[in-house]
Amino acid sequence: MKRKELIKSYIEFFKSKGHKEIPNSPLIPENDPTVLFTTAGMHPLVPYLLGQPHPEGKRLVNVQKCVRTGDIEEVGDEHHHTFFEMLGNWSLGDYFKKQAIEMSFEYLTKVLKIPKEKIHVTCFAGDKDAPRDNESAEIWKNLGIKKIKFLSKKHNWWGPAGQTGPCGPDTEMFIGPIEIWNNVFMQYNKNEKGKYEPLKQKNVDTGMGVERTIAILNNLEDSYLTDCFKPIIEKIESLSGKKYEQNKKPMRIIADHIKASIFILAEGIQPSNTEQGYVLRRLIRRAVRYGKELGIKNFTTKLVEPVLKIYQDDYPELKANKKFILEELEKEEKKFEQTLEKGLNKFKKITKDKKLNGKNAFLLYQSYGFPKEMIEEECRKNKIKFSEKEFEKEFEKHQELSRTASAGRFKSGLADKGEETTKLHTATHLLLAALRTILKDPNIIQKGSNITAERLRFDFSFPRKLTKEELKQIEDLVNAQIQKSCEVIREEMSLEEAKKKGAIGVFEKKYGEKVSVYTIGDFSKEICAGPHVKNTCELGKFRIIKEESSSAGVRRIKAILE
Ligand code: ALA
Repeated sequence: MKRKELIKSYIEFFKSKGHKEIPNSPLIPENDPTVLFTTAGMHPLVPYLLGQPHPEGKRLVNVQKCVRTGDIEEVGDEHHHTFFEMLGNWSLGDYFKKQAIEMSFEYLTKVLKIPKEKIHVTCFAGDKDAPRDNESAEIWKNLGIKKIKFLSKKHNWWGPAGQTGPCGPDTEMFIGPIEIWNNVFMQYNKNEKGKYEPLKQKNVDTGMGVERTIAILNNLEDSYLTDCFKPIIEKIESLSGKKYEQNKKPMRIIADHIKASIFILAEGIQPSNTEQGYVLRRLIRRAVRYGKELGIKNFTTKLVEPVLKIYQDDYPELKANKKFILEELEKEEKKFEQTLEKGLNKFKKITKDKKLNGKNAFLLYQSYGFPKEMIEEECRKNKIKFSEKEFEKEFEKHQELSRTASAGRFKSGLADKGEETTKLHTATHLLLAALRTILKDPNIIQKGSNITAERLRFDFSFPRKLTKEELKQIEDLVNAQIQKSCEVIREEMSLEEAKKKGAIGVFEKKYGEKVSVYTIGDFSKEICAGPHVKNTCELGKFRIIKEESSSAGVRRIKAILE
């Protein structure tokens, strides 16, 4: 069976059982700042699992693109992937254990025709938070499943996807050693205190891994031999002139990481040193590192075609962003190629005594662009002792230094000093001043800020949602200041003096005696480490793309410069 056939048959099956198909959600979760990527099909459904009515009803089905980056190092074995597709069906307070398990059993044995003797399952053993799931075990028994194990929370409990939210005990289905499907009985909400409270409704959330299931149905030893990967592996074989059989690990890593990178790029994310951008950077760099083992260079863009061939019909964003994907891959690969060779030579030199101290490890990170897990991997491979603790210490020391040197650059959320981020940083100052003016509230303060090359994200204290009119007025006021071509002036003074002059600054305690104050025309005055543009006319057009709640009493604005 092929990937497309499995997806179609799953969705058809659940449609025939009264489920509505819902569309794929973006890989970057829209309403959950606690996670970087959509890691499961339930992710976009959190509000509905919590009780909000879903416009399509109580029974849903879809296939969702997912990225999991918990353990990048695990990729390289048979069935762990960074990017994967998850089939899922949901009951939002509708059916529960009996029907869910019976439908899973029917789909596996009647539609996929897997003999029931091959299926074994696990159920939740129970603990202080929730009772032993004898009910699910009974249901399986009645269906004729013989191998049933009870396991602890570590194995048979799923969620929440972020820090808080819906979760519950699950029952997992295995064929041999491979887990192919998980039915989660989401009837608890994990709250901020870590307590499990019963949800308003009892939900079912299931997830079946497409790649693994296809491998099993076709009796293949690993997912990379399925049509979810085959064209990519074949391309790597032809580029390197080597065979998959003898080069499984590097080929798997390259295929997995570049596929994931392409999907992340298709969301408009660029490689950077923060958040999703940093995950992307690590994926590309680790792939490039393994390319070296196969003796290939400048290869990442050549894998775009085979990835598109597999997925472009189902994910139009791939084709739509093809140019961007190619450009960014090429840029990042080139950038890393330049330091990789030198970095590996340096690595050899500094590890002659079979040890890598924190300082040297940090040097590889900072001057040669080696992501941390890559340093660890090199050490493991070459049997070199590496102290993660020392590295972290060095990392913190460096952050501390640059924090005092540039007074709060990290705090201000600005971790990348590019031209775009500099502009966006100046825009946040205009935004804060505009918020205070339009909302007529001089007590509004910055509660957090995060800037990537694409957008700014700004959290500020304010008790309610902003109206459309207010947002428009704020936007207009910022743009008026840009058009006025205000000079941005930096001055050094003591903290006391800065305060006297009315400069705003919320991270005061971190500052030493002297602070720098940035003044924009007669509009804004903030204690800040910069960097900033010289004149607001450099900014272009300011546009607010989102206003939402961040936490109690804190609002969040996302904005871009066009
Ligand atoms: N959300 C569940 C999982 O990811 C189904 O396994």
